[in-house]
Amino acid sequence: MTELMWNSEIYENAADARTLGSAVATPAPHADPRQLRNTLGNFATGVTVLTYESGDTYHGVTVNSFTSVSLDPPLVLVSMMRTSRALTYLLERPFAINIMGDDQLTTALQFAGKPDAGAPIEWVIDDGAPRINGSLAYFQCTPWAGYDGGDHVLLLGKVASYGQQDDTRPLLFYRGTWGALADGSDNR
Ligand SMILES: Cc1cc2nc3c(=O)[nH]c(=O)nc-3n(C[C@H](O)[C@H](O)[C@H](O)COP(=O)(O)O)c2cc1C
Repeated sequence: MTELMWNSEIYENAADARTLGSAVATPAPHADPRQLRNTLGNFATGVTVLTYESGDTYHGVTVNSFTSVSLDPPLVLVSMMRTSRALTYLLERPFAINIMGDDQLTTALQFAGKPDAGAPIEWVIDDGAPRINGSLAYFQCTPWAGYDGGDHVLLLGKVASYGQQDDTRPLLFYRGTWGALADGSDNR
């Protein structure tokens, strides 16, 4: 996988990126990965599903490491496990980041490795990457750069188009469980 990504053209944008082959993340000697993961889970997040086309079918992967990076140029970031099947595709073709609404839990589960969890996905096909109908918001991206992130790859996407649904509330993830905003906790 390292060789494939190092050869990827998108590294032309990643002037400062360390080579994926040379850097091995060294956790603090005392770190228990499970404990560290549990503690990191105190950071409450939204939930996204990254979607892309491959072999005439549409695929997705559930991701909560999404963050905004830059307005000019418009860049967003996700951190992808190196073992993710989606990663090689996402590094080389357009993808959409769909922010899940609180009525899309089954969709999030479905793309987190539980394929039987959800109803059939309603796809929106337009000029950009395929996206999921009814999402709270979406960003259609082209890959901008991939950076070494230890056992993950930091994937930056350049936003080509985006949109939102005003009457939808977010799906949340906190300490390994799913949630929704408490009543009255948003400012619409
Ligand atoms: C709430 C939640 C958040 C997740 N966030 C990420 C993430 O940020 N990066 C990642 O690589 N995998 C993440 N995953 C795991 C992937 O969704 C899961 O491993 C998926 O099956 C990978 O599919 P793929 O191998 O087809 O790419 C998350 C899973 C859940 C349930």
